[in-house]
Amino acid sequence: MKTDRQFELECSRRHFLKGAGTAALGAAGITALATSIPGFIKDANAVGASMEKWPWPYVKLDPDKTAEIAYNEWYRVFCGAAVINAVFSQLREKVGEPYKSFPADSFVFLEGGMAGWGTVCGSNAGANIVSNLIIGPRIGGPDCEHGHTIGSDMMDWYSNTPLPTYTPKEPKQKTAIIQTKSESPLCHVSVGKWMDKSGFVLGSAERKDRCARVAASVAHKLVVDLNAWKDATFKPKSTWTPGKTFGITAQQNCAECHPAKVPAPPTARK
Ligand code: HEC
Repeated sequence: MKTDRQFELECSRRHFLKGAGTAALGAAGITALATSIPGFIKDANAVGASMEKWPWPYVKLDPDKTAEIAYNEWYRVFCGAAVINAVFSQLREKVGEPYKSFPADSFVFLEGGMAGWGTVCGSNAGANIVSNLIIGPRIGGPDCEHGHTIGSDMMDWYSNTPLPTYTPKEPKQKTAIIQTKSESPLCHVSVGKWMDKSGFVLGSAERKDRCARVAASVAHKLVVDLNAWKDATFKPKSTWTPGKTFGITAQQNCAECHPAKVPAPPTARK
């Protein structure tokens, strides 16, 4: 495994090459970087891509179809595995391996913010697993300074968007499902705020359908972003790097959980 510092160095080198403006030099540089990382496939679209190596080949998918699959899969394997399966079940058909061998259902444990602990919403975790397998390590993204850009953008979008955004073609629940903004990528906060505003309890059919629609909304955005990335038009919207900006890994709205006073991490005290 490379250290963060090594990735940073490779990142800046790639930026330098891009800045030089010579396409040929840039491409050569990227190939050199790609081959320098163990397990990094030179040509991600090469036939017979293997399970051990990544990133994996991607072909553009239909966002609405993906969202529908995610919605229905939620009722079988819940949020995280639903998002993964929504994308990978289609790539299994269109690409084959390594998607065929990937045990997407095993990610059923992401349910309820990982085994019911309310940490990161499984839809966000699933989207990060998918984008990371397809885009690859930090140097693979269009703007490597922001790490796993599509995954990070997803957390940002999820936190700042009234969800769910997606309405299934044939909703299993006919009751109106209200939208709430979580201001957090966490399952606990997201589900909690929705339950508080809607009045529906955790075990209700409405809460379940809300989470199925959230998974569908995330799967939809994920494929929109992956398609843009494939076309080289993806532009990351979140421009902050939590570790560097705050000296602690976190979501950026510190006051949401520290309303009285945001504690300073040791680096900021020095
Ligand atoms: C989702 C809620 C949440 C968010 C958002 C959050 N924190 Fe925290 N943070 C906590 C909790 C809970 C603790 C445990 C201690 C406590 O209860 O204050 C903690 C602890 C800390 C600590 C350890 C020292 C201490 O006083 O306990 C620091 C430093 C800290 N947070 C800084 C930040 C900063 C800076 C941000 C924004 C970049 C941030 N936090 C965002 C929930 C949060």
